Amino acid sequence: MSFFVFLCFLVKLVLVSTHKTCSVNDYLPSVNDGKFIDGYPYYTVKNLQILQCVVFCMRNSACRSINYNKQMKVCYLFETVSGQHTVGSNSSVVHSDVTDSPQQLAGPCWNHSCPANYLCSVTKFNNYSCNPIGCLVPPDYSAPVPFLEFGSRECTDASTQPRVQMCHENGTLSACVNYPSTCSQLKKNYRDCQDGEYWLHHSFDHGVQRLQKIYCQMEGTSEFVTLYHPNSITSSCHRCGVSNVTFQRLRLQGTNLDLTDQEFSSVSILTQQNTDTCTGFVQFTIDLRNTSFIIASTNNWPHSNVTFSANNQTAIGRWHNCTIPGIYLDFNKEYQPKMTTAIVPGCY
Ligand SMILES: *[C@@H]1O[C@H](CO)[C@@H](O)[C@H](O)[C@H]1NC(C)=O
Ligand SMILES: *[C@@H]1O[C@H](CO)[C@@H](O)[C@H](O)[C@H]1NC(C)=O
Ligand SMILES: *[C@@H]1O[C@H](CO)[C@@H](O)[C@H](O)[C@H]1NC(C)=O
Ligand SMILES: *[C@@H]1O[C@H](CO)[C@@H](O)[C@H](O)[C@H]1NC(C)=O
Ligand SMILES: *[C@@H]1O[C@H](CO)[C@@H](O)[C@H](O)[C@H]1NC(C)=O
Ligand SMILES: *[C@@H]1O[C@H](CO)[C@@H](O)[C@H](O)[C@H]1NC(C)=O
Ligand SMILES: *[C@@H]1O[C@H](CO)[C@@H](O)[C@H](O)[C@H]1NC(C)=O
Ligand SMILES: *[C@@H]1O[C@H](CO)[C@@H](O)[C@H](O)[C@H]1NC(C)=O
Ligand SMILES: *[C@@H]1O[C@H](CO)[C@@H](O)[C@H](O)[C@H]1NC(C)=O
Repeated sequence: MSFFVFLCFLVKLVLVSTHKTCSVNDYLPSVNDGKFIDGYPYYTVKNLQILQCVVFCMRNSACRSINYNKQMKVCYLFETVSGQHTVGSNSSVVHSDVTDSPQQLAGPCWNHSCPANYLCSVTKFNNYSCNPIGCLVPPDYSAPVPFLEFGSRECTDASTQPRVQMCHENGTLSACVNYPSTCSQLKKNYRDCQDGEYWLHHSFDHGVQRLQKIYCQMEGTSEFVTLYHPNSITSSCHRCGVSNVTFQRLRLQGTNLDLTDQEFSSVSILTQQNTDTCTGFVQFTIDLRNTSFIIASTNNWPHSNVTFSANNQTAIGRWHNCTIPGIYLDFNKEYQPKMTTAIVPGCY
């Protein structure tokens, strides 16, 4: 099937009410097969068909054109049209100036008046509703910035301290706040905070602000990573006895894990003074799935035999001596839970 025949077929599916034979001139959005505009999309949606991508664009008032990647089924929204950009060629992409497209495609959303950071959706009553997809940051942007759940915008006010604001799920921007990056800053800024999981701004990603879920223990302002999968170290070291430590949380020292800390752990002594097990090694399972962290690729354990998972969220193996090393961490880009799963500092 050629691409246009396929597109025509999709149009037919969408326009079930029409009895006309589908012809290019009637309902087809004007697409530029094999072309793309060379710009920055303000919004990206995955797993859409080309026509759904065109309709998605119609549902947001900021959108004027799309690039669509046929291979990856990814839809990119632009607030500009092809005349404003360099147009490139690639057989796996399509560009369309959606402003030229037949309005029938959008159904009741064709003449919606949702604000630019809202998406029009057709309701079961065959009218429409508006749902937030991001925030507007006047005066610099006319298109919405997406929800910044795991990053945040730097405020451009004159403050000497770095201040950030986040986009709430209801489409409003938070006020600019001095955003804590450590539990100790949290305690200094907001005295009444309780122990708990917080979104903090640990600085990892070379200048990019990332939010990470960190457990703050307010007394002593210690930082921990709460674990969701079994983690343990079994050391056959202490006077040749064997002890097994299982962790509920691991202590963070900056961007390092300190495995010698036993604040949130339980220790069981398996054998004591048993010369048969007097071999001097440490067996470990570090499993950081469902946390903001992965094991950094900079770790270097020469006396060891370790198996890493593909994305370095887990490491299982053995250190061949009794020195338990610190573990360098990196930011886990794949971990994107709801913002509501931890406290946003401010304690409001
Ligand atoms: C065309 O796009 C595909 C998919 O995004 C990409 O893999 C490929 O490298 C691109 N080709 C050129 C010549 O840019
Ligand atoms: C949208 O169009 C419908 C008819 O197609 C009309 O009844 C309605 O008032 C229009 N809404 C706006 C906001 O223009
Ligand atoms: C959509 O229609 C329903 C039922 O007629 C009505 O209750 C609702 O207020 C309408 N919504 C809008 C935005 O017009
Ligand atoms: C939007 O959500 C934030 C955070 O939940 C809340 O503080 C704010 O009052 C809400 N704003 C509106 C207009 O609902
Ligand atoms: C250590 O304890 C954990 C949790 O109870 C268990 O899964 C693991 O098998 C134990 N390791 C050894 C060597 O006994
Ligand atoms: C852990 O993450 C997986 C997906 O990566 C998810 O299915 C699971 O529900 C998460 N578990 C917890 C305890 O959050
Ligand atoms: C995982 O971490 C180890 C050691 O820190 C490193 O050698 C390896 O390259 C990392 N793998 C990936 C996929 O980052
Ligand atoms: C034990 O292992 C660590 C890390 O692999 C290494 O730095 C240290 O030199 C080793 N100690 C002995 C006594 O071999
Ligand atoms: C490393 O550990 C794996 C799995 O436990 C084991 O199969 C392998 O033989 C070990 N390699 C060495 C060199 O000890």
